[in-house]
Amino acid sequence: MCGIFAYLNYLTPKSRHEVLDLLLNGLRRLEYRGYDSTGVAIDSPQANDIVMVKRCGKVKVLEDAITEHFSGKEYDEPVMTHVGIAHTRWATHGVPCETNSHPQRSDDENSFVVVHNGIVTNYKDVKTFLEKRGYIFESDTDTEVIAKLVHHLWKKHPGYSFRELVEQVIQQLEGAFAIAIKSKHFPGECVASRRGSPLLVGIKTKTRLSTDHIPILYGKDEKSPQTCEKDTEAPKTKEHRPHGQTRELAVLPRTESTSEFMPLEEKEVEYFFASDASAVIEHTNRVIYLEDDDVAAVRDGTLSIHRLKKCLDDPHAREITTLKMEIQQIMKGNYDYFMLKEIFEQPESVVNTMRGRVRFDSKSVVLGGIKDFIPEIKRCRRLMLIGCGTSYHSAVATRQLLEELTELPVMVELASDFLDRNTPIFRDDVCFFISQSGETADSLMALRYCKQRGALIVGITNTVGSSICRESHCGVHINAGPEIGVASTKAYTSQFISLVMFALVMSEDRLSLQQRRLEIIQALYELPDRIRQVLKLDSQVQELAKDLFQHKSLLIMGRGYNFATCLEGALKVKELTYMHSEGIMAGELKHGPLALIDDRMPVMMIVLRDPVYIKCINALQQVTSRKGCPIIICEEGDEETKSYSSRSLEIPRTVDCLQGILTVIPMQLLSYHIAVLRGCDVDCPRNLAKSVTVE
Ligand code: F6R
Repeated sequence: MCGIFAYLNYLTPKSRHEVLDLLLNGLRRLEYRGYDSTGVAIDSPQANDIVMVKRCGKVKVLEDAITEHFSGKEYDEPVMTHVGIAHTRWATHGVPCETNSHPQRSDDENSFVVVHNGIVTNYKDVKTFLEKRGYIFESDTDTEVIAKLVHHLWKKHPGYSFRELVEQVIQQLEGAFAIAIKSKHFPGECVASRRGSPLLVGIKTKTRLSTDHIPILYGKDEKSPQTCEKDTEAPKTKEHRPHGQTRELAVLPRTESTSEFMPLEEKEVEYFFASDASAVIEHTNRVIYLEDDDVAAVRDGTLSIHRLKKCLDDPHAREITTLKMEIQQIMKGNYDYFMLKEIFEQPESVVNTMRGRVRFDSKSVVLGGIKDFIPEIKRCRRLMLIGCGTSYHSAVATRQLLEELTELPVMVELASDFLDRNTPIFRDDVCFFISQSGETADSLMALRYCKQRGALIVGITNTVGSSICRESHCGVHINAGPEIGVASTKAYTSQFISLVMFALVMSEDRLSLQQRRLEIIQALYELPDRIRQVLKLDSQVQELAKDLFQHKSLLIMGRGYNFATCLEGALKVKELTYMHSEGIMAGELKHGPLALIDDRMPVMMIVLRDPVYIKCINALQQVTSRKGCPIIICEEGDEETKSYSSRSLEIPRTVDCLQGILTVIPMQLLSYHIAVLRGCDVDCPRNLAKSVTVE
């Protein structure tokens, strides 16, 4: 939710126009994270001043406003050092409007300006504290308290550095945040921090970087835990905690540099702070993923990373990672939308998921990220598969195979509901967290809940360096490549395959299951070609979309291995087309949904030659005998099944447990075409964002 992007050039001449282009481009890459409103703040040509432009709407609207606002030759003159911050918003507190857009400011002189991703849960207390000291709030956002609190502390502690002020501020904040702050009182400096929301620093230098890590500067006293100095001027929050305790906010002691401190110092350098790597990859592939409570500060071209407290096993440095991502991966190429590109990438993305893991010659599967934990997993009480939305559906899709090949109880859980229920978790549980972004707040909270209770945590994510990745004991990176369309497509099929591979690993030494395993491994080998065949149905699916796009509703029915496709298909239709859609377990039809059927209700039914075929035919007949005219997804050449309806889509045959990969693709295409016909913004559906970092 929300994308933040900041840029700082040091001894690298850049005009203000160039800086603005850089900021806009960064925002375009992050737009998938939220697109209600946007804004930028840069150094004004007037000495020691900051200018901001904010607009309601997408980056294009901001771009037009910037063209209008920033004219004059002073914007073309090179500036040796400059700091710009930018934001694209998914509204949580306050409606999308210019005043609620970021950057948020401390005062009408723009002394401190902040961009923020996340939610400050105690903002009301901090706001009350600041209001009592004369601050007047102009927006409805939680973010404004950050800007005003820095300002308050700056007035109170004139000797503090910018970084120290931010360190003080983050101690007062509860909830989740990634922030980047700029100030007219600290020109040429930028300070950023995170807790719960992702943030990385990109580094671009003229010559090769002289180091591959940045030492961390810890608070003054590294051995004993930090004690809070009570500050009568600090905001006092009486926040109700779960066990009825209250807590007082207090200002912590300042940190001091130590002799060990060796920050990154290059002569000519550019820094980028961004919510994710796709926003920096066109400038640099050298990044540092910040950890919770890191404060990264750039001053005189020098980047340093600070933390207030040091725990025993905390590292001494943050590694500078080299991104493997290619710029083409985040471009649309010849496709009109990222979503369409990502649907058509699936023959390759599934290969990337299996690469080096499924060994087709020896018919074996190795998952390097979890292999050392397999003996422990085999001894577990049960497997829990936890996720949200599409990621949850990948768990539903593979549950049956996992039960069959592991012979363990398998629970599938929506992360939010799992937490609401305070589900009992045991030390011998193995909990899988499935998440494309690796940042979904509900899943992350559920992960921490299970970890605290001693369960083994396995992450199944698409984003290297994400919170779920880092907080898991072990895991599988699905390698689907960057997914930019807000609706998840290729990540789903890759999550699906990752879980299938896990089931194959678990059954490697089960003699009775060898035939089944061979059949699945062979089907995985053929899968990319089968997907290509399904993608050839695109024009047929487009014709179907023309029949359906003006309807109000679409029911999608199936059972067994294809029930997950019904749920996932309905989710895709809802989120992209704003039409009502429901995935129905065909076995439940007679228990209620059958009442919806008449000759006008659009219905799709998945009827494949698998163990539930006869039961699906029963459901099909129940529909046709109520004058329903379903569109059938069936196997190629299955004339008998086709004869039940005038409209069908034929997909190639594969092993039953992988059918869900082939049946979901027509649903992805159908939702895409209906959305286009209804004039919806396919890559940015209304009210949604790609990465849901709020609970
Ligand atoms: C739907 C969709 C969402 C996500 C869900 C979880 O197309 O993308 O339902 O699947 O928000 O996100 P991740 O997988 O990033 O945890």
